[in-house]
Amino acid sequence: MVASHAARVLVASNRGPVTYALHKEDGSLTAKRGGGGLVSGLSAIGPDADAVWVCAALSEGDRAAVERAAGERLDPADSGGQHVRMLDIPEEIFTGAYNGIANSVLWFIHHLLFQTPLEPIFDEDFRSDWAAYEAYNAAFADALAEEAAEGAAVLIQDYHLTLVPKLLRARRPDLRIGHFSHTPWAPPDYFRILPDDVAADVLTGILGSDRAAFLTRRWADAFADSCAAVLGASVIRDAGALTVTYKGRTTRIGVHGLGADADFLRERSRQPDVEERLADLRDAVGGPDVKVIVRVDRTELSKNIVRGLLAYGQLLRDHSQWHGRVVHVAFAYPSRQDLSVYVEYTDEVQQVAEEINEEFGTPGWKPVLLHVRDDFARSLAAYRLADVALVNPIRDGMNLVAKEVPVVSDEGVALVLSREAGAYEELGNDSFVVNPYDLRATARALHEALTLPLHERAERSKRLAAAATALPPQQWFLDQLAALG
Ligand code: F6P
Repeated sequence: MVASHAARVLVASNRGPVTYALHKEDGSLTAKRGGGGLVSGLSAIGPDADAVWVCAALSEGDRAAVERAAGERLDPADSGGQHVRMLDIPEEIFTGAYNGIANSVLWFIHHLLFQTPLEPIFDEDFRSDWAAYEAYNAAFADALAEEAAEGAAVLIQDYHLTLVPKLLRARRPDLRIGHFSHTPWAPPDYFRILPDDVAADVLTGILGSDRAAFLTRRWADAFADSCAAVLGASVIRDAGALTVTYKGRTTRIGVHGLGADADFLRERSRQPDVEERLADLRDAVGGPDVKVIVRVDRTELSKNIVRGLLAYGQLLRDHSQWHGRVVHVAFAYPSRQDLSVYVEYTDEVQQVAEEINEEFGTPGWKPVLLHVRDDFARSLAAYRLADVALVNPIRDGMNLVAKEVPVVSDEGVALVLSREAGAYEELGNDSFVVNPYDLRATARALHEALTLPLHERAERSKRLAAAATALPPQQWFLDQLAALG
């Protein structure tokens, strides 16, 4: 049944634009608004545009908010005027889908993270998680089918929701459906690690959309190649346009390279709380003659933080002239702490940072300043202060940090960038490009970035900022809507 207040534009993602904290003492709820490209993007169509965002309840507070909304949309005041329908998916289904499949299997596949001699193992537990993933995707398809007006545009996000396009098309053939992947896509040989039926379901699920889009051409091509390898689908590359045809249906493949939100970042990074943290960081670093290498990441296995620290240690070993004259400011914020492998990785990051401080530190110099508590204002302060930014993921859909630092930087920044980050396609020319597995090469790149003459650094940084802001989130979103027709 279609809801009476049916929407013309729908966004679906696991994590929504608002989350709630439940205060046990009095049962009250506090709403906290999220950020990111999708939130800014959707703001481009304005609050009167008949849009709704469908997402999952992630916390106890979220579940309480859904219960209080009695199956209806949440209070738009909580999400800056956004209409949000939050789904309270039963906890064991949510956990199997989110932790079991999305984060432990699909994320690992697309970021090439498995230690293949021992994993993955596709056993009975996997099959039960897969059944949960199917049920979770079906819950989204049901809600979208109910919320969408005749002929509405639906933009479905990411690896959590690969089955939704096909399920939704079966329920509502009138809709215009897009799917967007924010991650890389695995090369076909690696994608085929998945059991054959699961690999086929993921691909045919996304091919249920009219248009499947990616952050770079490289990921779009890998998706098309996987469709050819797994399904025998026909792929046509014609004057830059890419289509995949399977069983008589054609899906257009698009590329939208999400950029940094320059206006927001420039304004936010000059607020008093950022100035305060900038002063603290300057104190901690220990003087204007000390150079600063900055990295800011969620502590995800794909971010390669441990090798980044080891490469910094190598730099200090190879170039003693930097002793006392450089500090590595590393912010590694918590992510997916329900997964033990993430907790272990976070511990490893802390241990390696301590080892470097023990090996090289002196009473007046702490070579690594590591912070693990999320603080956006402090991240912006570090962006402003950075002489060098280190962005060295094993693999990354885009990596917005690489794009944000040059936009915010006070004096221009030298960027050391992994060739496996999506951002490399746009920023590679003005970066110090590294193979993320190669410590010596990364240490060398850090040294070159640190010694880049200031005027050249400023020039490069200006070009990086221009490339980084070529497609602001609002335009990124509107382009996808326009491409759906
Ligand atoms: O960082 C990329 C990304 O894949 C986003 O596309 C996605 O929204 C996010 O990670 C998911 O992270 P989380 O598991 O914390 O919701």
